[in-house]
Amino acid sequence: MNKIVEKNINGLKGEIVIPSDKSLSHRAIILSSLAKGTTKIENFSKGADCHSTLNLFKNLGIDIDFKSEQSLILKSTGKFLEPKQNLNCGNSGTTMRLVSGILAGQNFNSVLYGDESLSKRPMKRVIEPLSLMGAKINSNDGKAPLEIIGKHLKAINYKSKLSSAQVKSCVLLAGINAEGKTLFTEPYLSRNHTELMLEYLGADIQVENSTVSVQKSELTAKDITICGDISSAAFFIVAGLIVPHSDFVIKNVGLNPTRTGIIDVVKMMGANIEILDKRTISNELVGDIRIQTSDLKACEISGNIIPRLIDEIPVIAVLATQAEGTTIIKDAQDLRNKESDRITAVVTELRKLGANIDETQDGFIINGKTKLLGDCEINTYHDHRLAMSMYIAGLISEKQVQINDFQWVDISFPEFEQLFTSLQ
Ligand code: S3P
Repeated sequence: MNKIVEKNINGLKGEIVIPSDKSLSHRAIILSSLAKGTTKIENFSKGADCHSTLNLFKNLGIDIDFKSEQSLILKSTGKFLEPKQNLNCGNSGTTMRLVSGILAGQNFNSVLYGDESLSKRPMKRVIEPLSLMGAKINSNDGKAPLEIIGKHLKAINYKSKLSSAQVKSCVLLAGINAEGKTLFTEPYLSRNHTELMLEYLGADIQVENSTVSVQKSELTAKDITICGDISSAAFFIVAGLIVPHSDFVIKNVGLNPTRTGIIDVVKMMGANIEILDKRTISNELVGDIRIQTSDLKACEISGNIIPRLIDEIPVIAVLATQAEGTTIIKDAQDLRNKESDRITAVVTELRKLGANIDETQDGFIINGKTKLLGDCEINTYHDHRLAMSMYIAGLISEKQVQINDFQWVDISFPEFEQLFTSLQ
């Protein structure tokens, strides 16, 4: 489905409630499936990725019953049944990497596969630590499909070269079913939702700086309410800053400090942004955000902030085209391993609009402020975040922009366009 985006001249105004967090929705299903008992999950994501995780656990014998579109009851004995079919992870790296940590320690074999984009993404990053724990995984040269031969796992002390929440979560989920104490250390702290949810469900878990340790644990079922996704809110934050005459409030945004790099960056760039009504929901910090059109200056984004805004970099690149000066984004080479090579894809597509942006091996150099011209066709590379980032660029382009295959947005944020329209 192709989408035509027109320049917004009136500004974005009003109030929206940001939909459910994708990372938390995956983890709510995965961790409550590991817990013995009944869990009510409220505000579960409508995105296709989280439904891939949900259907996968149904295929492992977990009883999941929707009470309404986003509210469900999950019943588990804490044990899984051998699946009768290969397990489909769709487009979702989170599903494949987290679930491999659980399946590696079962007393049955299973196969995880995914779509064209997921089948190209690196899985060695989880195969390596799991193999050190005693797992046996056959792959297509480090890529999906993964054939997982269930084994009894032993704990490890793993020092990861990557700051990746997916790798960390995979090892921790294997660790709560392994003999001994598993330690995982990463260079910079990545999102810590797995740690917080494990703690919430009673696991034996300790955190010290960027090292987490877990012991073999039984989890206790406990109801989970999922807050809104800051990675979805990021598209609105950027749009609010660059679309003239905007002033609106984004409600119910997850503000876990391991995810709020985008807020630190826009503040550094001079944004008018206010955080209101901070509260805690199911062990996660939440708040509302007021955003107003702002004059922005360039900045450098690198080092330990990168894992705290990794998914927001495509839309931050759009933002940087509207900031005075040279914005440098570096240390982000793992962007090449996302749903698309997000470095090449962002540069190729933003240049079509007239942006002054150069590709580096691990990021971008963006000179602003530039007028985006539009009048072109944008490709989306099977990548939901690229589609949404380019929609934002379209809102400030002089002439209309056609975004091809816009349906990829449904992977994480099916409500995206309707929410935009409600602010106009
Ligand atoms: C995620 C972790 C990040 C992020 C992805 C979701 C998660 O991936 O890009 O969208 O839910 O754990 P990496 O761990 O590969 O950086």
